[in-house]
Amino acid sequence: MIKFFFLLGLCCCCCLLVEVRSKVFSPEEFGEVMRNASGVNASHIEIWKCLVKWESSFDTAAHNTKSGDHGIFQINEKWWCSPPGKYCQVACVSLRDDDITDDIECALSVYDEHERISGNGFRAWHGYTKHCMNVTAAEEPELDLKENETI
Ligand SMILES: *[C@@H]1O[C@H](CO)[C@@H](O)[C@H](O)[C@H]1NC(C)=O
Ligand SMILES: *[C@@H]1O[C@H](CO)[C@@H](O)[C@H](O)[C@H]1NC(C)=O
Ligand SMILES: *[C@@H]1O[C@H](CO)[C@@H](O)[C@H](O)[C@H]1NC(C)=O
Repeated sequence: MIKFFFLLGLCCCCCLLVEVRSKVFSPEEFGEVMRNASGVNASHIEIWKCLVKWESSFDTAAHNTKSGDHGIFQINEKWWCSPPGKYCQVACVSLRDDDITDDIECALSVYDEHERISGNGFRAWHGYTKHCMNVTAAEEPELDLKENETI
């Protein structure tokens, strides 16, 4: 019996470990991942860094159970992740793991929808409207700046 409970306990431990495999990014690393991700406007990296700082402090495990917001971008379950949201076709739980590829894809969908509705996609995030409105888009994508430096 003791052995049984021991094994059961071990099993639960493993499940928990799988469930909470998450990561706190440094602002620099987050910026680099965003720069590498396809579909992210290079001029917007600093704005994303600001809003994510206020939304989740770069913690992929962030979960606001009251509002139903998940992960590093605090994406809301009402519309976007499931259950019950469907628009991103992603499980909310996978927005809280250490792989933010799917988070970025979903955040870009949220951005696009709000860009369409309000003319500024970042307005989807309170962290942005409260703290990041003054962070302006870079004049030129950082890639171009780097290229210019070498001339
Ligand atoms: C970004 O891409 C570069 C070049 O492919 C790679 O060396 C680097 O490890 C990537 N960084 C991250 C954080 O994914
Ligand atoms: C990237 O963002 C800048 C500043 O908001 C904007 O002027 C530019 O049109 C955007 N580029 C693309 C490809 O959407
Ligand atoms: C943004 O800039 C305006 C004008 O400079 C200032 O009044 C406002 O407090 C700033 N907002 C934030 C969130 O920093």
